[in-house]
Amino acid sequence: MKKIGIMTSGGDAPGMNAAIRAVARRAMSYGFEVYGIKYGYAGLVAGDLFKMERSSVGDIITRGGTILYSARYPEFANEEGQLKGIEQLKKFGIDALVVIGGDGSYHGALRLTEHGYNAVGLPGTIDNDIPYTDFTIGFDTAVNTVVESIDKIRDTAASHERTFVIEVMGRGAGDIALWAGVAGGADEIIVPERPFEIKRIAQNIQSLRARGKKHTIVVLAEGVMHAQEFMDQLKQYGDFDARSTVLGHVQRGGSPTARDRVLASKMGAYAVDLLKAGKGGIAIGMEKNQLTYHQMTDLFEGRHRPDLDLYEINKTLAK
Ligand code: F6P
Repeated sequence: MKKIGIMTSGGDAPGMNAAIRAVARRAMSYGFEVYGIKYGYAGLVAGDLFKMERSSVGDIITRGGTILYSARYPEFANEEGQLKGIEQLKKFGIDALVVIGGDGSYHGALRLTEHGYNAVGLPGTIDNDIPYTDFTIGFDTAVNTVVESIDKIRDTAASHERTFVIEVMGRGAGDIALWAGVAGGADEIIVPERPFEIKRIAQNIQSLRARGKKHTIVVLAEGVMHAQEFMDQLKQYGDFDARSTVLGHVQRGGSPTARDRVLASKMGAYAVDLLKAGKGGIAIGMEKNQLTYHQMTDLFEGRHRPDLDLYEINKTLAK
């Protein structure tokens, strides 16, 4: 193996740059040439590739986003797209690839491996919704961003004695809501993985008020419903002075935390080592603080399990 390609695909996540740096520098330390592929699979198909030097990844470990840009490109599910991508890999003489992204990105990586180009996936998404890894790159930073916002909202909620419904990202997963909810001292955490009853939540808010706690923080995962809808339903059960806040894409930005940078560095270096050992069609994880890898096909069948202990713990802590 002489030439490795790197791409970021799907929604960007803080720490992707740290991962790109780790892949590039580890590969160069083995004497491999490294090619950056811009805009994920869309850029691969279009031939938007460039040779990277050590300096191409200088000063990026601190930066959020991805210097390789990213795109969602469902067209790569079609064979036509895959064959065009392979043509480009042949043209540039690239033997193997590291794909940093989420579930969708892994499907593309598996197709490339099936066509003879070993590809290794790194879990880069704020959602933390990838099976066989305890944490994904970007999750810790996003949680910290959300906690910072909850802290700020708490100030105004307390001053006006209001209830706030704060909608956080996560697609179908409740991880961001669970972690940020516990860390931010939320009174209620609503996630897709647990049933909930608006009436019970309204009663809880009222009993907290009766006991003297006049402001309430509800952290709502976007996979459940939108904050405005939740608030409208809540208001049917009482005269709440409630407001809703959608944190949105602010959760995807910012300088990665030390934890995300270290996770990205470890995973990036490991990905190159696995490719060097001739492996492909696999995805890297961090399980119980150990680097692991699994077949991508296992990941598609596996189910991500959020830490629902946090949900149970919060029920007792928020009283
Ligand atoms: O997967 C990351 C994520 O930020 C999700 O939490 C969110 O649902 C989605 O991407 C938003 O996607 P887009 O940026 O394409 O609107």
